[in-house]
Amino acid sequence: MTALLEARDLSAGYPVAGGGLLARARVIPVVHDVSLRVEAGRTLGIVGESGCGKSTLGRALLRLIEPSAGRVLWLGQDVTAMPAGALRRRRSDMQIIFQDPVAALDPRMTLGRIVSRPLATFEPGLSRAARRDRAAEALRLVGLGEGFAGRYPHELSGGQAQRVGIARAVVGRPKLIVCDEPVSALDVSIQAQVVNLLMDLQDSMGLALVFISHNLAVVRHISHEVMVMCLGRVVEKAPRDAFYERPLHPYSRALMEAVPEPDPRREKGRIGTALPGELPSALRPPPGCVFASRCPRAAAICRTERPALRDFGGRLAACHFAGEG
Ligand SMILES: Nc1ncnc2c1ncn2[C@@H]1O[C@H](COP(=O)(O)OP(=O)(O)OP(=O)(O)O)[C@@H](O)[C@H]1O
Ligand code: SF4
Ligand SMILES: [Mg+2]
Repeated sequence: MTALLEARDLSAGYPVAGGGLLARARVIPVVHDVSLRVEAGRTLGIVGESGCGKSTLGRALLRLIEPSAGRVLWLGQDVTAMPAGALRRRRSDMQIIFQDPVAALDPRMTLGRIVSRPLATFEPGLSRAARRDRAAEALRLVGLGEGFAGRYPHELSGGQAQRVGIARAVVGRPKLIVCDEPVSALDVSIQAQVVNLLMDLQDSMGLALVFISHNLAVVRHISHEVMVMCLGRVVEKAPRDAFYERPLHPYSRALMEAVPEPDPRREKGRIGTALPGELPSALRPPPGCVFASRCPRAAAICRTERPALRDFGGRLAACHFAGEG
C-alpha cells in the first residue's frame, strides 16, 4: 500500500549565524535521519521529552522549515524539491494544528473569516458565498453552531478555540493533519473531547494524523503506531499495543516510569519529571547512543558506537541490547 506521507532519512535544523561578518550561517541539526510512513485513516503518535525535536520534525514533514537532508514523499511523489506553487496546492492536503489554540487565531478576524481563509488559497475559484458555507460546515463539524461564525477569538474558551483551529485545518478537506501538542494547553476535562473529535473526524474523513504529544496516555488512546524520539533521533517505533505492553528501548521505559502516579488534579499520563542524569547538548551530540549518559544499562560500547534501528518482528528499536530480556 502506498503511504500517504513518507519520510526517508529526514534531517532538519535551524540556522545559526557563523562567527564574523562574512561567515555563512550554519544549520544546527536537530532532527537526524528520521524515516516514517503514515497511511490514510491511521495515526502515528510521536513522543519524547521536551526539546527532542518533535515539533521540528512535524514542521519539516510539511516543509514549513526546509529539511537539511533526506526526502519527504506525498503519495509517492517527492515534495522535498517541489517548487513553491505546487507545494502550496499540496498544502490543502496536509494541515497542521498548533499547541496554543488562542495564539494561533488572528484576534481581529471573525471565526467565519478565520476558518474560510485557507480556501482562498486552496480553492480560489470558490465564490464568497460558497466559502462562507464551507466555513459554516466546518464549524458545525467540530461542534460549533452557525452562530459562532460571527464571533471573535477572545469570546472563546480554550477548548472552543482549539475546535476553531481544527475547523480551519479541515475546511480544505485535507488527507493528513500534523497535530502538534493539540490538547496540552487545554483543561484536562476538555482534552478528551478534542481528542475524540479528532478520532471522529478520522473515521468520517479517512484522515491520517501525526499526533505529537508529551502525554503517553493520550497517545495510547489515539495512535495506531508510536514513535519515540530522543535527542532528534528515532529510538523506537512499534504498533501501539506492543509498545505499551513491552517497550523495548530503555529510554521508552524511562519515559513511562517518569509519568507521575495518577492524581486527579493533574493531567493523566503526561511525562512528568525530567529523566535523571545529564541530557547531552544538541550542539554536541554524543558519538554513541543518544541515551548513554542517562541509561541504567549503558556499557562501554554504548558510548562509542551508535546503535542502529533494528527490526524485532515488525517493530524497531535502536539499542545495542534491545530484545535481550
Ligand atoms: N526556531 C528555532 N531556532 C533555533 N532553535 C530552535 C528553534 N525551534 C526549536 N529550536 C531548538 O530545537 C530543539 C528541538 O526543539 P523542538 O521544538 O523541535 O522540540 P520538541 O520536542 O517539540 O519540544 P517540546 O516538547 O518542548 O515542544 C531544541 O533544542 C530547541 O531549542
Ligand atoms: S544502546 Fe546502551 S545506552 Fe543506549 S539505550 Fe541501549 S543500553 Fe542504553
Ligand atoms: Mg514541540
